[in-house]
Amino acid sequence: MFTILEGVGLVCITVVGLQFCRIIYRITYNSIIGPFFKKNVDFTQYGRWAVITGATDGIGRAYAEALAKQGMDIVLISRNMSKLEAVSEALEKTHQVKTVIIEADFTDPSPTMYNHIEKELVVLKPPPIVLINNVGMSYPYPEYFLDLPDRDQRFMDIINCNILSVTNMCKMIIPNMFDNGKGVVINISSTAALIPSPMLTVYAASKVCFHIFPPYLTIHTGYACLLILVR
Ligand SMILES: NC(=O)c1ccc[n+]([C@@H]2O[C@H](COP(=O)([O-])OP(=O)(O)OC[C@H]3O[C@@H](n4cnc5c(N)ncnc54)[C@H](OP(=O)(O)O)[C@@H]3O)[C@@H](O)[C@H]2O)c1
Repeated sequence: MFTILEGVGLVCITVVGLQFCRIIYRITYNSIIGPFFKKNVDFTQYGRWAVITGATDGIGRAYAEALAKQGMDIVLISRNMSKLEAVSEALEKTHQVKTVIIEADFTDPSPTMYNHIEKELVVLKPPPIVLINNVGMSYPYPEYFLDLPDRDQRFMDIINCNILSVTNMCKMIIPNMFDNGKGVVINISSTAALIPSPMLTVYAASKVCFHIFPPYLTIHTGYACLLILVR
């Protein structure tokens, strides 16, 4: 028989062991098993154009690279024209795909800003039916709700950039999904929306919207609306 201490030790080792196996399985599946059995999602079956918000750095840029590698043409949206041009050139050269660049700041809630994006998208043939809602901003550093300097502006920017962008971009792309009978929306969330994050209150709250949108849009549209959680 085990002593209590040995029992606790055994449980801890089992939990850590299972977590370790899960990580190894995920890495092996994503890099070897999935690609070998062609289990990776082939986005080209969903259309030619993918629209990516916040596409010039980090996760958005990684999506742009990955989808261009699959042969998709990419609409890159972010604030900085020289970064947009550099990413566009790199994608076109490396993957022989087309790109469209749109300079836009999602902290700007004005209809003019979204009309400007829509004008660039409506001319695309076939209309885009893949949307990666990636753009997002957080606090400059973790802080309690009422202690954040410049909180009025910062909170407005977070709400506009993280929530309004998803709402308006979905409004633009989802009608194309209905017309085409298929489509994909991917929303990039954060574990801040799942674990207690009292020093990122508004950011965490803004990311909860990403958990609500996909299942409800899936019910409404019948097409894939996915949630990607970034730790
Ligand atoms: N990185 C993490 O550890 C982490 C963790 C959890 C969740 N996430 C989420 O993952 C997403 C991407 O994060 P990331 O770390 O990859 O971001 P990042 O490296 O900071 O890249 C942000 C991208 O968005 C663009 N951008 C930023 N603000 C913008 C604005 N107001 N309007 C238009 N474009 C804007 C940037 O380009 P310009 O500056 O040229 O505009 C850049 O292309 C976000 O939604 C974030 O909340 C990230």
